[in-house]
Amino acid sequence: MVQRIIPIQSPNYLPPKALEQRLDITGIFGNSNPLALEIGCGTGHFILELATSQPQTNFLAIDIYNKGCLKTCRKLDSAGLSNVRVLRAEARFLLFNGLTPASLSAVYINCPDPWPKKRHRQRRLVNREFLDILCHFLSGGGELFFATDVEDYARDVADTLRDLPVYHNQLATEISLQLPGYPSSKYMQRFLEQGQPIYYQHHQRDPALPHRKFTEPIVQHGFRNSWQKTDHG
Ligand SMILES: C[S@@+](CC[C@H](N)C(=O)[O-])C[C@H]1O[C@@H](n2cnc3c(N)ncnc32)[C@H](O)[C@@H]1O
Repeated sequence: MVQRIIPIQSPNYLPPKALEQRLDITGIFGNSNPLALEIGCGTGHFILELATSQPQTNFLAIDIYNKGCLKTCRKLDSAGLSNVRVLRAEARFLLFNGLTPASLSAVYINCPDPWPKKRHRQRRLVNREFLDILCHFLSGGGELFFATDVEDYARDVADTLRDLPVYHNQLATEISLQLPGYPSSKYMQRFLEQGQPIYYQHHQRDPALPHRKFTEPIVQHGFRNSWQKTDHG
């Protein structure tokens, strides 16, 4: 589906050309506070609440969906927040082109597209390859939060994280049905109101394990991921 791109005029929006080079995070925010990232911010419910509660953290909120970025910016602008910047960007493209290794104090992923059909599961954003990439960009001790409404997605991610010694579970169980103090995204709110569970995971990147050398793949700026198979194989 082709998106109708509505121009976004907001002091909190970074246009796609910002990613023609690495982001100057200190210059963008005017301070050197820790930097956290929300991947797939949707319409901005979660980041609004999170960034309000953590004024000493800078946040990037990204989504490939233009209208979502627009709505997120409107919320941030009305709230007068200055510690969030919104980008219309694909997650891997942002990481490899915009950020430096070990630069993120936290990554938040809420209700990523579920791709419920078995034959479509390879399209899920969070898999072993992606978790490997994330640990390269998380700082030592950086935190990873993952919340989904899809039980088998939660289990797949939990199984994968268990196999990756760089990540340490921060909860009493690998998957929890509640995470006190964690804001709800729009999708989370909707599912919770319908009486459906949200499966939370919270991990920390090992502070002592070094950031090994990583060969960055060439990632296309386009919004389809070149390495994902299509329906036609
Ligand atoms: C199901 S929605 C959930 C939105 C929001 N997190 C929430 O919980 O309300 C998933 C969002 O992730 C975005 N998305 C999917 N793949 C992405 C990617 N590779 N990089 C950035 N955003 C992505 C989609 O455009 C969509 O807005």
